[in-house]
Amino acid sequence: MENRVVIGGQWGDEGKGKIVDTLSRDVDWVLRFQGGANAGHTIHIGSEKHVLHLVPSGVLHEGVKCLLGGGMVIDPWSLRDEILALEQRGIKVRDRIFIAANAALLMPYHKRLDELKEEGRKRKSIGTTGRGIGPAYLDKIQRTGMRLGDLQLPAENLERKAIEMILSANELLSTHYDAEPLPSRVLAEELVVLAQFIAPMVVNPYEVLKGVRQGTETVLLEGAQGTLLDIDHGTYPYVTSSNSTIGGALTGSSLAPRSLGEINGIFKAYLTRVGNGPFPTELLGDQGEALREAGGEYGATTGRARRCGWFDMVAARYSADINGLTGAIITKMDVLDSMPSIQVATSYEVDGEPLPCYPVDGNILPRCRPVYREFKGWEKPTTECRRLTDLPANARKYLEFLEAELGTLIVGVSVGKDREQMIWTNTGVTT
Ligand code: IMP
Repeated sequence: MENRVVIGGQWGDEGKGKIVDTLSRDVDWVLRFQGGANAGHTIHIGSEKHVLHLVPSGVLHEGVKCLLGGGMVIDPWSLRDEILALEQRGIKVRDRIFIAANAALLMPYHKRLDELKEEGRKRKSIGTTGRGIGPAYLDKIQRTGMRLGDLQLPAENLERKAIEMILSANELLSTHYDAEPLPSRVLAEELVVLAQFIAPMVVNPYEVLKGVRQGTETVLLEGAQGTLLDIDHGTYPYVTSSNSTIGGALTGSSLAPRSLGEINGIFKAYLTRVGNGPFPTELLGDQGEALREAGGEYGATTGRARRCGWFDMVAARYSADINGLTGAIITKMDVLDSMPSIQVATSYEVDGEPLPCYPVDGNILPRCRPVYREFKGWEKPTTECRRLTDLPANARKYLEFLEAELGTLIVGVSVGKDREQMIWTNTGVTT
């Protein structure tokens, strides 16, 4: 098994959880490199459904070590709850979860500030998950935040530091937002108790990843969100606050480029978005509703209905290019099983003029009109297909088109929620 990075190719929710779970069977490490509890990675095993927010999706394989990387923002309250929930299900995790000391600590005031900032944006709200992500990264970037390593401080030092931080956040809450202060002492004491639970898992990522650097251990780097939500390369300002593209896999892990191995982009066979912002191929009427129902398109973190639309090849090509994908995996293919016809946006027009490529200027995307190519649906179930040759001819034609246009081999196709509902191919889908 080679090292591998799994990146969301679209606006998140591509089904990365299932893919990471499947691919992590034979690796030593699974490493989340960015984001926080805004992610909701869902894994179905038989009748059981696991939703992970902070813990890497490799955790369901006994013996796989999981590292929450330095590029993450970690809410210790959520992390404790997630670990306890896994243990309640009989999954032993405590000795194989590791947390990078340089990861940013997300505090309750970050969540409160996230909510208040969103309220203040009114009609221009981003539609964040409310998990405090933006404010926590802001503290990191302005060099004022705490880090996970701080949980290893002596209790009184940690408590003092936490109180200082909370009081300074309270100042902001009252002066800028006219909001109630948070109980500094209570929260600081809770953090000290949490530290006893979490501190034994905090490590130096440079040290624990020595085997990966030397090539004696393998790693799967798990991206959260997706390329179009990247703070630099996504549909700014309607993005998350981290680098969900390939650069984040380096800065968020402490690994060097040559350790990355394969780079797999995950793309849903259609497209969804949660939260606000431009979405050129969005379907607003019955067709959008049909996709939402067929795909169960409701957020794993917030339960919000996802906006649905057709596959956007202009955006997908951009994603394949900027991440340097070595392979693509198409998910939720089965959701299209009953569609009589399927569309793919192949180019954009602005004011009737063709656009040469995906625009990175956030002022242009809302003005883009997609130009579609239509495909005949296959109108047959694909959920039992396990080889490419099992797929209906029209489904293969659709995949062959995606492969050719993406410019990268499609190495996997997911045809259902379960671990087994996968078609793998080393040679792509084009015969
Ligand atoms: P935040 O990351 O909570 O600040 O939210 C910023 C934007 O990213 C919002 O539009 C969210 O809906 C979106 N977002 C954040 N995390 C995810 C995710 O895991 N899947 C899909 N969208 C996400």
